[in-house]
Amino acid sequence: MDAISVIRTKRDRGEFSDDQIDWVIDAYTRGEVADYQMAALNMAILLNGMNRREIARWTAAMIASGERMDFSSLSRPTADKHSTGGVGDKITLPLAPLVAACGAAVPQLSGRGLGHTGGTLDKLESIPGWRALLSNEEMLSVLDEVGAVICAAGDGLAPADKKLYALRDVTGTVEAIPLIASSIMSKKIAEGTGSLVLDVKVGTGAFMKTIEDARELASTMVGLGTDHGVRTVALLTDMSTPLGLTAGNALEVRESVEVLAGGGPSDVVQLTLALAREMLDAAGVKDADPEKALADGSAMDAWRRMIAAQGGDPDAPLPTSREQHVVTAPSTGVLTRLDAYDIGIAAWRLGAGRARKEDPVQAAAGVELHAKPGDRVTAGQPLLTLHTDTPERFAGALEAVEGSYDVSEPGTRYPVNPIVLD
Ligand code: URA
Repeated sequence: MDAISVIRTKRDRGEFSDDQIDWVIDAYTRGEVADYQMAALNMAILLNGMNRREIARWTAAMIASGERMDFSSLSRPTADKHSTGGVGDKITLPLAPLVAACGAAVPQLSGRGLGHTGGTLDKLESIPGWRALLSNEEMLSVLDEVGAVICAAGDGLAPADKKLYALRDVTGTVEAIPLIASSIMSKKIAEGTGSLVLDVKVGTGAFMKTIEDARELASTMVGLGTDHGVRTVALLTDMSTPLGLTAGNALEVRESVEVLAGGGPSDVVQLTLALAREMLDAAGVKDADPEKALADGSAMDAWRRMIAAQGGDPDAPLPTSREQHVVTAPSTGVLTRLDAYDIGIAAWRLGAGRARKEDPVQAAAGVELHAKPGDRVTAGQPLLTLHTDTPERFAGALEAVEGSYDVSEPGTRYPVNPIVLD
């Protein structure tokens, strides 16, 4: 077998054999296939696709490239959630302790942000002392004691995907449904969760810009999970505007704590509850009442224990930005658009995200929203507050938010869009 013949197969719109897939994933992981060859292969897949059999085999080969975790020693059923990524998507933070408080165990292996979408680990690292890196033994022990753990995936889990995702990121080949589906599902299946709820985002701030593409990605991932014995369901949810009222690391932790305290923006609460119900149902936990767990403080209690178990101080003040800049409404009327992608870019330029994997992030940087689409606004009222520690970043962020919103005539009717689309 050789890399050139595998590349030619897909370049010429052919179907890979099982042997070709097994060989190329293994040889790439071992360094025998070069990055430039894999980049050419990824581009051929992006342009010409893979069928269901090929995607299933590709996923299985990536799982087989590393270790598989095993949670069978736990007394509770496991349920995990994966979001395909969006702006202001802090849902994992309140969701994991909430589902734990309702009786399931949540092993949440999360990532860092790259580009305009934030990363769960970057958000949690704004809590003084909190550690993302746990050994497999530590992870299992937090999961056993608290019922929820959010940590970085170890190097042993689907190493083929680690190499492949980093390569796709710099070669314009992230946006291929077969590659996204196999990348996400290889990690989730190797992680060993019994059930999985996928939050597939649709809209300007998401990978998938149309509901048709999101549906195809969702059904591909549900098929892969089901074929590997993981009870998998997917929700398609709106990402045309940021979730909640904050985008940025410490800002999003603060909002998540508000949700756990029984408050918080209604879209964040609604989506957290919808995903919690799906996770508990998929895990077979009967008679759980996530709304009650938010109201009676049991979800907050699980959050505090989860943060403390990973070295964090749940009572420590969160970092605040050294500099702020307020963007005001240009006229009186109804806010009819506030674009998720533009706000994500602004938060990133303010220092909340990174341009390269090794860049540091600013804990306090980001964007605070003072109105959401559908709200009435008056000329001169604050619309956005930009936060950063480095004021030279304001210019780039202001450029990103210019044109990111529309204020229409007073009295304009604005349809209330559901957060869960399907
Ligand atoms: N997230 C992943 O883990 N992989 C992808 O390919 C895209 C998003």
